[in-house]
Amino acid sequence: MASTYGAAQVLVASNRGPVSYELQEDGSLRTKRGGGGLVSGLSAIGPDAGALWVCSALSDGDREAVRRGVGEDGVRMLAVPADVHADAYNGVANSVLWFVHHMLYQTPLEPAFDSAFWRQWENYARYNRAFAEALADEAAEGAAVLVQDYHLTLVPGLLRKLRPDLRISHFSHTPWAPVDYFRMLPDRVAREVLEGMLGADRLGFLTQRWADAFTACCDELAGGLGDTEVGVHGLGADADFLRRRSREADVEERMAALRAEIGQGRRTIVRVDRTELSKNIVRGLLAYRQLLDDHPEWRERVVHVAFAYPSRQDLAVYREYTAEVQRLADEINSQYGTPGWTPVVLHVKDDFARSLAAYRLADVALVNPIRDGMNLVAKEVPVVSDEGCALVLSREAGAYEELGEHAIVVNPYDVMDTARALHEALTMPPHERAERSKRLAAAATALPPAQWFMSQLRALTA
Ligand code: F6P
Repeated sequence: MASTYGAAQVLVASNRGPVSYELQEDGSLRTKRGGGGLVSGLSAIGPDAGALWVCSALSDGDREAVRRGVGEDGVRMLAVPADVHADAYNGVANSVLWFVHHMLYQTPLEPAFDSAFWRQWENYARYNRAFAEALADEAAEGAAVLVQDYHLTLVPGLLRKLRPDLRISHFSHTPWAPVDYFRMLPDRVAREVLEGMLGADRLGFLTQRWADAFTACCDELAGGLGDTEVGVHGLGADADFLRRRSREADVEERMAALRAEIGQGRRTIVRVDRTELSKNIVRGLLAYRQLLDDHPEWRERVVHVAFAYPSRQDLAVYREYTAEVQRLADEINSQYGTPGWTPVVLHVKDDFARSLAAYRLADVALVNPIRDGMNLVAKEVPVVSDEGCALVLSREAGAYEELGEHAIVVNPYDVMDTARALHEALTMPPHERAERSKRLAAAATALPPAQWFMSQLRALTA
């Protein structure tokens, strides 16, 4: 099925793929294209490259598509049984590995690795085996296989055993935990994760900080990196696409609607996130409230535009977090709002055109995650901003490594400091804001998705 790119055939493996299917009431299947850096990076290789993307069926629609043999050229979806996938994805990947790498546990009570965890771990291993077997089955002699993320940490090691001829890489889109946090995992799990990844020829990370943390874990817990190379590829924003897309008619319409919601002559503090536990939306709202307390002169003159799009709603802790964002936004609005001014404009329905509209309008972008692999929003806003935008940026976001110099940097746990930073950003003189925004955009676009992908492929096949 797969053909070649340059000398080597290319295969990509990730949990979420570039397409998904929705079962309609009339029994037909509707195709939806996925988004994100990886998708655009891979599409940029071009249709002739014929890379094969192996991904998991995530929904009933996806499983039905596999059953009916419906599919896109260049994509192979694996119909892992729903219960196995749920244990691997929700149980291990999102509730354990994501928590460890983002340091999210409230440790007096969690994690507690009990018998339910071990069932989930066995299913995580089964799910990784399904990927390794499918890749072994599809790959031509000497092919390059690029495995993505914490869902598939065991794949490189398993695939290496099945197909020693392949060039294998693994890329982490998340941070990597410091060794003292990583060793919270049961010893066997920590060892299997590291050994699985070290089955790759090459491991990629978004920043040097995450690469160093991984290396430290290997030094301490796995006797070093062995023959595996570690590299850093900082995924950048796709300037051409963003600038073109953000000038389309639907974005202009959303801008008009947003302007009406915000009100005449007001400044805007914009944030756009998937509502992940690491994004720190609640402390962002607390900081905004603090700003209104510390600087009453901003009341009626500023609006916090917060887009918090649902994510991983199968997990109760995500649903609770989403509800807390909504509750706090309502509380601020009822405490400070006036008949003509809504202090927080919160939207929770994903709308890419509206996100771009908010990027264009933003006076200040607030990106304050407690920990983040990169954070592409921090890179996208300055690229499309109409008049220049001040960036309040967490020092714990991967993007800090490239953008920190031109941003107003905050400790994401420090609400008072974040409020101070918001004030500083709002009062930044327009020429300085425009100047900094230009420098942010230049740094943000240093390695656009297609080049990001190609740089990994080149390094792997060199
Ligand atoms: O935020 C980025 C990320 O963590 C990537 O590492 C990963 O590919 C993606 O989120 C997974 O999100 P989802 O659970 O929605 O598939």
